[in-house]
Amino acid sequence: MEIVGKLHPLLVHLPIGFLIIGLLLYGWKLVDPTRNFGEALRPIFLLGAIAALLSCLSGLQLMDSGEYDVATVTRHRNMGIALAVVSFLFWFRLGQQSLNKRLPFLAISLSVLLVITGHYGGTLTHGSGFLTVDTKDSKKDRKEIKNIEDAILFGDIIQPILSEKCVSCHGAEKQKGNLRLDDSLKISKGGKNGKTVSGNADDALMLRRILLPPDDDEHMPPKEKGQLSSDEIALIRWWIKEGHSFSLKVKDIPKDSSIASVLKRFQQAGPQQTETIEEKWPEVAAADPEVVRLLRKAGIAITPISNTSNLLSLNLLNLTDSSMRIWEEIRKLREQVVILKADLPFIRDEHLKNIDEFTHLRKISLTHTQITDKVIQQLSALAELRSVNISNSHVTYRGLEKLVQLDKLRYLYAIQLTDSSYAQQLQEKLPNVEVLVKPFDVPILVSDTTEVVVTK
Ligand code: HEC
Repeated sequence: MEIVGKLHPLLVHLPIGFLIIGLLLYGWKLVDPTRNFGEALRPIFLLGAIAALLSCLSGLQLMDSGEYDVATVTRHRNMGIALAVVSFLFWFRLGQQSLNKRLPFLAISLSVLLVITGHYGGTLTHGSGFLTVDTKDSKKDRKEIKNIEDAILFGDIIQPILSEKCVSCHGAEKQKGNLRLDDSLKISKGGKNGKTVSGNADDALMLRRILLPPDDDEHMPPKEKGQLSSDEIALIRWWIKEGHSFSLKVKDIPKDSSIASVLKRFQQAGPQQTETIEEKWPEVAAADPEVVRLLRKAGIAITPISNTSNLLSLNLLNLTDSSMRIWEEIRKLREQVVILKADLPFIRDEHLKNIDEFTHLRKISLTHTQITDKVIQQLSALAELRSVNISNSHVTYRGLEKLVQLDKLRYLYAIQLTDSSYAQQLQEKLPNVEVLVKPFDVPILVSDTTEVVVTK
C-alpha cells in the first residue's frame, strides 16, 4: 500500500493536466460559442475527475507518514477532496443542457480549487514561500574548501552562511529592516538602525539579533526559518570580533582553540553542514514551560532537538559564578536534557550536583572548567552518554578510567592528557571510544548542530 502513497506526487499532475485543458477549452467555447468541441469536453472532465479521485486516495495513504506539517496537509487534503467532488459535478452538469447557465461559476470554483490545492501541495514538498524563495542563494553555492587556512573568511565562509540563512529577506528582492546582506558594501552600510557589524562583537546589532531567544520577535532568522547552527554563530561572532574584514584570509586572523575546531569541522563538513543520524530517542513529558522561560531569561540557550520530541539541548551561556544557583532549576529538566554544554571557566564539581540524575544525557561538554574526577564518577552512571568532552578541565587519567562501564560512549575528548602513554592506555581500556587528545583532530560528531531524525 505504501507504494500507492509514493505515487501521489506523480499522480497529481494528471488531474492538473486534464482539468486545465478542459477548463481552457470550456473557456474558449464560452468566448466563442461557434466553437464546438463536440464529444471531447465531457471525457476530458471525466478523466480529470477520476484522476483527482485517485490522487485523493493516494494522498490519504501518504498523509499518515508524519513527514508533513499537519495544518498544511489537512488544508491540502480538504481542498483536494473538494476539487475531486467539484470535478465530478462539473462533468455531470456538462451533460445537462438545461443547467448550463450556472456552469461558468462552477468552472471558476474549479479553477480556484485547483490553484489552492496545488499551492498547498507545493508548500508541503518545497516548504512555505516556495514561489518566492530565490533558489540561487541555496546551499549549493557553498564551495568546497580545500584548505581552510587559505580561505577568505568573509567570501568563503561568512557570505555563504548569510546567503543561505539571511539573504532571502535581506537581499536584492526583499530588504527587511532596510538591510541587505548580499554583499560587503551593503553589509557595511547597515540597515534602518544603522551599522550592523561594527563595534565589539557582542554589541553588534547582527549578533545581538542572532543571540536573542528564538521566541523573541526580533530573533534572526525568524523562528520559522532555517536557523543558524552554533558553529555558524561562532564563525560570525569571530568574524565580527576580529574586525569584520572582507578580505583577510583565515590564516591571517588570530584564533583560539575553540574557533580552530569549528573551522576544522566546517572544512570537513564542506558544503553539507549538517549530518543526519538515526537514533531512537526516549519519549519524555514536555518540560515545564515556566522553568524553560526562567532559564532562557537567565541567558541559557535551550533548543528542542527536533520538533517532534520533548528532548532538549542546553547551553549554559552567559552564566556567572553567582548565577549558578540556577542549577536547581536546570535540575528540573533532568528528564528532558540530552545535550548539555557548560564550557564556563568557573564551573566546579559542586555546581553540577546530581548530574547523575540526567539519565537521558547523550552528550556533555565541560571544557575549560575546574571540574575534577568526582564529576566523572557521577557521569559513569549515565548509561546513555555518547560523547564526553572534558578538555582543559582538571580531570585526570585516573578519573577517566571510570568511563569503561559506559557501553555507548563513542567520543572522549581530553586534550589535557599530554602524556601520550596515558592516552595510549586509556585508548586500550576503551576500545570502542575514539579518545582524542590533540586539540585539532576533532572529527565531525553528533553535536547540537546535528539534524536529528527521530525513529520510533
Ligand atoms: C524571513 C525573513 C528574514 C530572514 C530569513 C532574516 N531576517 Fe533579519 N529581519 C527580518 C525582518 C522582517 C526585519 C525587520 C523587522 C525587525 O526589525 O524585526 C529584520 C531585521 C534585521 C536586522 C535589523 C536591521 C536594522 O537595522 O534594524 C538585522 C541586523 C537582521 N535582520 C539580521 C539578520 C540576519 C543576520 C539574518 C540571517 C542569519 C536574518 N536577519 C534573516 C526578516 C528576516
